[in-house]
Amino acid sequence: MHPKNSLKTRLMIACALAAFVSPLSALAEPVARGVWLGSTDGAAKTPPMGWNSWNAFRTEVDEAKVMGAAQALVDDGLARKGYIYVNLDDGWWQKRRVTDGRMIIRTRIFPSAATPDGTTSFRGFTDRLHSMGLKAGLYTDVGHNACSQAYDLHSPNLPEGTAGERQVGLDGHVSQDINLYFREWGFDYLKVDACGLADFAPDSKLVKDNGYIGLTPEIDRASLNRTDSVKVERRYAEVAAALKQANPDNDYVFSICNWGMANVREWGKEVGSSWRTSSDITPNWSSMLHNYDSAVKRALYAGPGHWNDPDILFIGAGDFDTDHLTEARSHFTLWAMLNAPLLISYDLRKAPQSLLDIWGNADLIAVNQDPAGNQAIVAYDSDDAQILVKTLADGHKVVALFNRTASPAKLNLLASHLKLKNDAPIQLTDLWSKAGITFTGETEFELAPHETRVFSVQGARELADGVYLSEIPGVINVADDGVREPQLDPTVHRMIDPWAGTRSGGSRPQYAGWGGAQADMTPYAQALQIGGHTYDSGIGVLGNSLLQVKNEGYATFRATVGVDDSTSNRDRAVSFTVYADGKLVAKTPPLKFGDAARDISADIAGHKIIELLVTDDNVANEQPVVVTWGEARLQK
Ligand code: GAL
Repeated sequence: MHPKNSLKTRLMIACALAAFVSPLSALAEPVARGVWLGSTDGAAKTPPMGWNSWNAFRTEVDEAKVMGAAQALVDDGLARKGYIYVNLDDGWWQKRRVTDGRMIIRTRIFPSAATPDGTTSFRGFTDRLHSMGLKAGLYTDVGHNACSQAYDLHSPNLPEGTAGERQVGLDGHVSQDINLYFREWGFDYLKVDACGLADFAPDSKLVKDNGYIGLTPEIDRASLNRTDSVKVERRYAEVAAALKQANPDNDYVFSICNWGMANVREWGKEVGSSWRTSSDITPNWSSMLHNYDSAVKRALYAGPGHWNDPDILFIGAGDFDTDHLTEARSHFTLWAMLNAPLLISYDLRKAPQSLLDIWGNADLIAVNQDPAGNQAIVAYDSDDAQILVKTLADGHKVVALFNRTASPAKLNLLASHLKLKNDAPIQLTDLWSKAGITFTGETEFELAPHETRVFSVQGARELADGVYLSEIPGVINVADDGVREPQLDPTVHRMIDPWAGTRSGGSRPQYAGWGGAQADMTPYAQALQIGGHTYDSGIGVLGNSLLQVKNEGYATFRATVGVDDSTSNRDRAVSFTVYADGKLVAKTPPLKFGDAARDISADIAGHKIIELLVTDDNVANEQPVVVTWGEARLQK
């Protein structure tokens, strides 16, 4: 059994094994199911938008600051534009009451939470937010203790009392706390952090110095092998189950905050509404790059209801303040293209117009909130510049050209980047300046340092009667990507750690994800290629994988498939099979590295769930086979 497999995948494998006992060394294969395996829980049909207290105030948060932000969201028109969640982060708690385990609020900073008997309640607070047309979010931790109890030890707002009273995290109290926060207090959104699973080792100096009750770490931030991803997933799944039970109307958001650790990029979509893909953002260009990179190549893992979360916006501070509006606009544009949650964290009681204009860019908000939920795809990739293309629900494209460097950069935009016809005019509208540009075939832009240009696009689609799967990641569920052992993604910008500085031998890759399914490139970031022929469009994945696609009215599935020329395992044969609502509709014979690509075509008319299965005779301890669904497309 593969230790990395998520709970759901392990169930699938168990079913497959029950039906078919394979030779000793062969790998368990995924099986087509005919039912949608992606989660439909929670209310985040589009990326959550709102305000969070953390970047603005850390633990020095209080009721006046939060209600000031809430009022400003309404008064400045941001709420009307979709910023409705008002999320209280770390710092709100006083203690866990010994007699019954009930969480008690720090009424010194949240006076409206006081009750005559000292029980405390946020009901008045959430009622006020609700009456303003807003929603309310709260923060907790999945372990015993929270992050401030490790990293903000100077804070005046740390939990107080005995070691037991200071155990403010969910561990051992999952249903009790979730019922309190949702049923009794009326919250709509919960962010669940993970320091309690990472930083409170029983024999650590932190635990000894502060008299905490330790918890043997399940997350080792520096070692994926020493992280127990299955246990971490199980803890978050328990929270998900309690949230579901406490919210029969499904109107809740579950924000997983374990900073891209424990292979969350694989299981987050099955458990939460969003999951952090990286460490905390700081108001620094390099940190923004790092967080952006941790999400930008994960498009196939996100979609309506479940989103990659590269962290709260840091617009308004440091490299993104009013003296750096180019950088601030880039940060906002990139988060919009990534379908990231848009959470402002600024003291909105005194926000300058120049920043309000950024958060309030209605065109970019519409890009982020487009109902199709297609995260942008990387159409051109390099360390210096990238071109991102996002397909909207109405079929139109949005393109962002991103200069990552501190020097000016020339970028060529091609019709092919947009999957539009080379010989028909293409009209661009700049989503910041609103200016229009028309070109045919190719055009060139000179970008200022750190600039991102973003345009809505009109043109003639390459595929007039259909859509490439790589254009519609929002309807794809990567049920099994074939990754056996999670590997760290080396393509994430390696910043100088904002906390540790250069006090180590170097900045290392930190997040599992390398080898995951990709749009328009292989799982290892190569161009898709079979038998020497390159495919601009397609899905790159590993053998032993299962992709599910929601079919919204198309009649035919087509692709040209084979073992990718970049595979390092050149010995094993793979078969490509297509199922429509559980029925086998197309299958190739076994194909090996070097074999010519095969066309595959299937009648899918009237079927809702198309499943793309790749099986191989690979054995344990071998490199996986890299395969390509070239030009995989749905057609009328
Ligand atoms: C971090 C988390 C931040 C913030 C902080 C609170 O772990 O990533 O977003 O919530 O804890 O202490």
